[in-house]
Amino acid sequence: MTNGFPAGFRWGVATSAYQIEGATRQDGRGPSIWDTFAAVPGAVASGDTGDVAADHYNRWTEDVKLLAGLGVDAYRFSVSWSRILPDGRGRAEQRGIDFYRRLVDALLNNGIEPFLTLYHWDLPQALEDRGGWRDRDTAESFAEYAAITHDALGDVVRKWTTLNEPYCSSIVGYGEGRHAPGAQEGHGALAAAHHLLLGHGLAVRAMRANSSPGQEFGIVLNQSPAVPVTDDPADVAAAGRQDCLLRRQFTDPLFGSAYPGELTSMFGAITDFSFRHDGDLAIIGEPLDYLGVNYYYRLHVADAPHREPEPARRTAHDIGVDTTRLPDVPRTGMGWPVEPEGLTTTLTDLHARYPGLPPIYITENGCVYPDSGDFDDHDRISYLRDHIAATEAAATAGVAVRGYFCWSLLDNFEWAHGYKHRFGLIHVDYPTQRRTPRESYHWYRSFIAAARQSP
Ligand code: FCB
Repeated sequence: MTNGFPAGFRWGVATSAYQIEGATRQDGRGPSIWDTFAAVPGAVASGDTGDVAADHYNRWTEDVKLLAGLGVDAYRFSVSWSRILPDGRGRAEQRGIDFYRRLVDALLNNGIEPFLTLYHWDLPQALEDRGGWRDRDTAESFAEYAAITHDALGDVVRKWTTLNEPYCSSIVGYGEGRHAPGAQEGHGALAAAHHLLLGHGLAVRAMRANSSPGQEFGIVLNQSPAVPVTDDPADVAAAGRQDCLLRRQFTDPLFGSAYPGELTSMFGAITDFSFRHDGDLAIIGEPLDYLGVNYYYRLHVADAPHREPEPARRTAHDIGVDTTRLPDVPRTGMGWPVEPEGLTTTLTDLHARYPGLPPIYITENGCVYPDSGDFDDHDRISYLRDHIAATEAAATAGVAVRGYFCWSLLDNFEWAHGYKHRFGLIHVDYPTQRRTPRESYHWYRSFIAAARQSP
């Protein structure tokens, strides 16, 4: 196999706490916004909740064996904030800390590097009750939680990611309302985006002040590039708004020292941006050691009337675009267009746009297809193979890519879709919690072994 990946490239898989752990009332864990949201009738398909999920909290030893069997170099997982701090701040719960220490020790004993994410969308409910991410104090609370977790696990964990996809926790959670906490706001959702970024910067500063050599700090962003459906200037402008909302609202302040001016023209009618304070951009722009990119699909964008004609009443999700006009390409079971070349251009575009961009890890990439029940998920294997090749193409073109993580190790709670969609390399039979590796698990194991051997 010709190998265009740099030496030391890390092959891994990813999961997140609420999606796999279950045990939501065990060992002193406090409730999170996802517990509350999932309990709202109609919020999650089939009334599913994360109460049991893949019961990873009680079956983690089996899951580490499956990771070891897969032969990955690295495992990306997230810590549940309300297991460590049941009320979001203040009293720490030692049993929560001990769980993650046991997990990390077992990973290290198997030669697997832990990539820890502090926040994968599960805000402690106690903090939501005080305003959640709309409130500046939540950024301070996040930095405290980061410092406590880093103090507890900093001797064994070297890769520290602050946030997973702040676009989803702000715009999808507080603007669109499709995710917890289920709010549909304008100003509040944009404030949430800013406070997430601020919390990220404060957390990096707090952890770095107390770090040891070799530790690295980063953030994970979802990158769904926007492509206009025609070259009509209205569609091109609509794609620009979409990209500003989903990508540049985050990448510009993180890597370009300023918010895009376009945010003001898009949202001046619904917010005065008073949540931005002098000095915030310097905190948000704290240098990073890596950027995590989650890539699943491209967005195909057409201009469309706003859902709410009255500008002042629009949510931060209502930007006058239509993203339903998909090209004639294969789609996954989620309906997402399969366009691996979008991953290559995402990486080369980031590289071109931000001089000084840190090295990149693909921190999530994967798919679902209707489950045939026989564990022979050849569609998933093709999807992964093509996206790994797209990553390799970017590396060959000069982008510093350091690793690739497949989403996901196990079938899990797919947020508002519940358990219907199965992203796992390993099938989980939820009634018995029996784990069965799919063909894709075996394929990925052989692929990694071969990649390691080729020059
Ligand atoms: C990403 C999320 C991850 C998972 C995948 C399918 O947006 O980070 O938790 O749900 O999508």
